Order: sequence, then C-alpha cells, then structure tokens
Amino acid sequence: MCGIVAYVGPKDAAPILLEGMQRLEYRGYDSAGIVVSNKGLKVRKCKGRVADLAQTVPASFKGKVGIGHTRWATHGAPSDVNAHPHLSADERIAVVHNGIIENANELRGRLQADGVRFVSETDTEVLAHLIAATVKETASLEEAVRLALKRVVGTYGIAVIDAERPGEIVVARNGSPIVLGIGEKEMFAASDVAAMIRYTRQVVHLEDGELAVIKADGFNTFSSDARETAKEPLTVDWDAGHFDTGGYEHYLLKEISEQPDTVARTLSGRIDDRFHVSHLGGLNMDPRETRSFRRVKIIGCGSAYYSGQIGAQLIEELARIPADAEPASEFRYRNPVIDPDTLYVAISQSGETYDTLAAVQEIKRKGGRVIGIVNAVGSAIAREVDGGVYLHAGPEVSVASTKAFTSTAVAFALIALHFGRVHDLSPADGRRICEGLRRLPAQIEEILKQGDRIAELARKYATYPSIMFVGRVRGYPVAREGAQKLKEISYIHAEAYPASELKHGPLALIGPEMPTVAIVPDDELLDKNLTTLGEIHARGGRVLMVGHREPEAGLADDVIVVPKNEIELDPILLTVPLQLLAYHAAVALGRDVDKPRNLAKSVTVE
Ligand code: AGP
Repeated sequence: MCGIVAYVGPKDAAPILLEGMQRLEYRGYDSAGIVVSNKGLKVRKCKGRVADLAQTVPASFKGKVGIGHTRWATHGAPSDVNAHPHLSADERIAVVHNGIIENANELRGRLQADGVRFVSETDTEVLAHLIAATVKETASLEEAVRLALKRVVGTYGIAVIDAERPGEIVVARNGSPIVLGIGEKEMFAASDVAAMIRYTRQVVHLEDGELAVIKADGFNTFSSDARETAKEPLTVDWDAGHFDTGGYEHYLLKEISEQPDTVARTLSGRIDDRFHVSHLGGLNMDPRETRSFRRVKIIGCGSAYYSGQIGAQLIEELARIPADAEPASEFRYRNPVIDPDTLYVAISQSGETYDTLAAVQEIKRKGGRVIGIVNAVGSAIAREVDGGVYLHAGPEVSVASTKAFTSTAVAFALIALHFGRVHDLSPADGRRICEGLRRLPAQIEEILKQGDRIAELARKYATYPSIMFVGRVRGYPVAREGAQKLKEISYIHAEAYPASELKHGPLALIGPEMPTVAIVPDDELLDKNLTTLGEIHARGGRVLMVGHREPEAGLADDVIVVPKNEIELDPILLTVPLQLLAYHAAVALGRDVDKPRNLAKSVTVE
C-alpha cells in the first residue's frame, strides 16, 4: 500500500518524483504529496490523485533533493492534512511512510506531554517528531532516524529528508519494501522499481531492519545496530515500456491481452520433451526430496488464493498428492499445525502481501518447508521462501490481477507435472500435459478474438445488480475468480458457489432479477452441470454459460465457447473470458477500471 519515491542528484526533483508517483499510483491513490529541499523544505500535498497534486506544483518549485508519496489511508481519512509528507514542528524534518506504526498512540501521547502539537491524524507524523527530537544532537540524519525507529513498533518503509542536510536522503525498511536505484551521479529510492525504471535498472533491495543513506554520488547501507552492510546491485529485466498502457485504453485490458505471451514466458525453457517432465531448478529439490512430501498446502490472498485452488486441484489430479489451498490471511492467525511432511506453497504476484509474508514467516519459524510462486523478482516473499518458481509475467500494474493469475495456474501445472512424474504420472500423461501446456498461448489468443462479443454480453449483464457464478470441482475456483474480478472492478455484487451447493441454499436467490454465469467444461461432470442449468432456468434465471460447446436449446441464454485443452488445464482457459466480461462490465458502468475504489495493488498492511 502507498508508494514512496525519493530523488537526489543534479536535476530538479519535482518532475521526477511526480512521474515516479504516477507509476506507483496503483499502490494507493487517495492522496499525494511531495517535498523538496532548497533553503528549507517546500511542500505540496492534497487529497486526490497525483494528477491533482501536479496542478498545485508551480514551475518555481525547485530543489534537487526530494521525496514523494501516494497514499492508501490507514490512520485518518484521505485529506490534505493527512496526506504525506509529514513535517516536524520546526519544519526541519520531512517523512513519507508506508506501513503502520502500531504504538503510534502511545508515542503520540508522550510527545504531546513534551509539548509537541500534532496537525494530522496519521501515525506517520509521530516519526517526523521523533526524528526531530534527536537530530540536533546526533552526528548524522541516519543516526537520528535509527534512534527514532528503535522506539517504533510496526511496519514501515520510510524516506526522510532534513532541511539542514540537503544533499542526502535516509530510507529504511521493515515489512514494507524499499529499493534503491543507482543512476549516473544521481540516486533514487522507491517502494517499487516502477518509479525509477526510466532512469536506471541497477537496483539494491533493502532487507527488513536496514537503513540507507543516498547521496548523488552513491549510497551506504546499515543494519539497525549501525553496522555498515555490503549490498550487491541487481539489474532488473523490466523496462519503462512494461509500465505504459501500450496504446490500450487501460492497463487491465493490456494485461489481459498480454496473456498469450505471459503464459509462454512462464512455460519458457521449463518443459522437457525427452522425459515429459518440467524443469523447475528454482525449487531447489532433488527427486528424493520431491518424493518425500505427503501433502501440499497452498496459501495466498484474494485471486492468488483462487489460483491456489486451481493449483491444489492440479497437484491432486496429476501427482495424486493431497493438496488444498487456504487464504494466507486466515492461515497465519489460526496457529497452524506445521507438518514436516507437508510442502507449503505461497503465492503472490507482488511478493509483498503482508498476510502472505507473515504466513511464510510463521511456517519457517515452525520449521516448515515453503516455496513461492511469485511474479516480482527479488520481492520480500521471493527472498523469504526456500525456493520457488518465478512467473516472468512482467509487471502487473492494474489493481485487478489477470496475467499473474493465469501464469500462476500454469506454474502450478508445471509443479504438478514435476511432482507427478516422480510419482506415478505415466510418460503418456506427462506428454499429454506438456502438449496441452504448449497449446495454451494460441488458445488464449483465440479467446481474446471474442473480445467484441464478450463486451456486448458484458453490457447486457452489467444492468443487473447482482450475479451468481457457479462451477463444479475444476470449475469452482474459476467461478470464484470470475466473481472476484467482476465485483472488484465493476462493483456489481457477485457470489460464487460450487454448482452442487446451489440447491442447498442460494437457489432461493435465483430468479429473473439474478442471472448466473455458469462454468461448464466438457469434462466428466458435464451432465451434472447441465442439470444445474436446467434448475436455474426452471426458476426463471438467466444463464450465461462459459464452456466448450453450445448446450441443448433452452439451457443457456448466452454462451461463450472457449477452445478445449486437456481437462486438467481447462480452468486456465475458462478464466480468460471472465476477465474480459468483468473488464467490459466495468467500462460500461464508467468505473475507474485500473484503480477501483478502496483497493490497492499491494496490500502491505494487516
Ligand atoms: C486481485 O484481483 C486482487 N486485487 C487481490 O485479490 C490480489 O490478488 C491479492 O491482494 C493478492 O496479491 P498478491 O498476489 O500480490 O499477493
């Protein structure tokens, strides 16, 4: 949540900060602010988007050092005064912050008792006053920040500037990402490389507990006990083009349309036709170890969790290992039993989701083995797990996850194939899955060609206030993801149920006012699903069927036919039309498709 950008160098900071903040806006977008240092601190901040802020920044807003922030409110409503940066009372120190200071109330009380007057409701303001309280006595800003952070309980990624030391910025991280960017006689820091990718691809990720001082000519990193740490810069393989809409109206449509490529990238170099197996060197597991796990437990949040349900199904079917998925946000709070014979799999596009990270840490703390399926290379979860599979789907900017979802499902198919072939999956079935995986990109292309027709259907279904999604077994996670996509970007109420559960309660909702999107693959459950369609129809419910063939007359009002693959892989393809349905429904309703209300791309708070 929230985006931080910092710049120090020979150029004017404000335009660089504003541009970086625009690229980070997907992380939070209820208010924005910047501060530059130039004979004192100059601040502009407001409720609203970065574009609103940019209009308040005059040409005279000059300074070669500055920090900026886009906010997703936690403490205090979105407002001009609660927007970051927050300043100390003497306006010497400015701070931007991602995360939550858990003991903010206690610290606020103490500072108020010392006569400090607070102007905002935020937890962040506490930091500005704490740093200001010691900075006059400390030898460096870094030391003042370190001392202040010692008093803080909670999570943070912060950037701090001091009007009296205008050539440097101090950043620190604990649970909320901070990346340094190394330029030509200039330095950047941000919560995401997206903010600085136009200027540099050389980056350094800070670890939890680390601080860094950045100056135009370089950087130094320190542990929380002031020991200097040695960091090797990485070169990221993303470029600025990955963060543009590329001529599409929205990032979401761009990311849906990229799926033939992104799925191909997830597969690239990982299928071995000699033994009909997959190569997943990142798992760091030899065959003996791969055979040793008796269960697989998958954790993730939101859409990542639903893709985990597809993954569990794939692992059970192909490897015959019991597998299930659970929301990481629940798992971490229920004192889970960690079993040495279970392989834990954490899924996260961003690699930053706090609940998933905390669940991974809990598993590791109890001695469990956990691998990750992650898109963002070098992210917190990627660094915390014992091994894993990178998606290589490229940055996903739109808040609603699409290409990461399909790539995760593909990664699970590769894992299931890998596990299956060290157990009892036959070479013939291995070959069948390898061939099916290879067909996916072209088949997704086929589905995308139906975009106009799906848009037409979306306009029709967007007139309903509420839509039911149903699917059986392999189709159920697809239905859940379809409902999730629709509700998060169109704000149409959507519920997903296993088709078999309909008659145990939710059938009472079905009638002319509530249509159903039914996932009906051509598999061994086809007849059962067709019976469900009949039951819905008999109650006057409209049906949009997503499947592999037209059903007999009268069972569905509308049908989206998708290409058939192997039954185990069909869920991946069945998801794609639902993404388009949600997208076009949201467009029809005039929603802010890429930045739906109340949400943020990376949920780095509890
Ligand atoms: C997806 O459309 C959602 N916006 C959300 O559920 C997301 O999948 C979830 O927050 C997990 O994110 P992650 O994959 O970055 O961990």
